[in-house]
Amino acid sequence: MERNVFESWRKSHMMKAHVTNPNLVIGEYTYYSGFYHKEHFQEYCVRYLSEKKGEDQLIIGKFCSIGSGALFIMSGNQGHRYDWTTTYPFFYTDDDWGGSCDGYRPSGDTVIGNDVWIGTESMIMPGVRIGDGAVIAARAVVTKDVGPYTIVGGNPAKVIKKRFTDTQISMLMEMRWWDWPEEKIKRYMKLLCSGRIEELYKEHIRG
Ligand SMILES: CC(C)(COP(=O)(O)OP(=O)(O)OC[C@H]1O[C@@H](n2cnc3c(N)ncnc32)[C@H](O)[C@@H]1OP(=O)(O)O)[C@@H](O)C(=O)NCCC(=O)NCCS
Repeated sequence: MERNVFESWRKSHMMKAHVTNPNLVIGEYTYYSGFYHKEHFQEYCVRYLSEKKGEDQLIIGKFCSIGSGALFIMSGNQGHRYDWTTTYPFFYTDDDWGGSCDGYRPSGDTVIGNDVWIGTESMIMPGVRIGDGAVIAARAVVTKDVGPYTIVGGNPAKVIKKRFTDTQISMLMEMRWWDWPEEKIKRYMKLLCSGRIEELYKEHIRG
């Protein structure tokens, strides 16, 4: 039988434990559930990520959930210039073309916030920034930044809805529960696993 690093679709891996590329920065408790694509996050989901210092990074926050086969396209234009006569990347082939030019253009870091749920087989394009608490629908192709607590879907991905009211989102952004000590997260677990945001906020302010 073909090797699968995941035992079943119910088993996920904490991503930090399987990362070797220094340009892949993963927050605590962020997991990848990759049974249907058989390989670890770094091997399957991260495409064209350079290991060189100073090049674009993929930065993912804490407590994110990443569905099987989500793809992160990195390295800007990968050396292809559609504003030149040819998109052929002469500079990157093994053949000697006599001083061919490097057409590489970076897109900047791809940054995923905290508590983001990324649906199965979605694709995040280079340099996109996704806010805290956002949801990326299955098979979405995300070409533009996504606001906090916003659900996007489709190709190209468009806003489907916001998860909460603007006031509730402000409360969540102020609380940043993902930065709380574990003890506090445990203490407020019932409220975290509910839609009672005002109540959680009141408790948080009260300390
Ligand atoms: C995005 C998502 C969370 C929305 O869930 P929901 O609110 O229950 O969705 P609904 O069925 O009520 O649909 C709401 C709208 O979003 C649209 N929509 C739902 N999923 C979509 C998708 N994957 N792509 C594009 N649009 C989508 C619906 O067509 C509907 O549009 P309308 O308001 O114009 O009619 C869900 O559809 C999804 O994609 N979840 C990810 C599943 C996944 O990948 N799991 C992997 C295991 S972790």
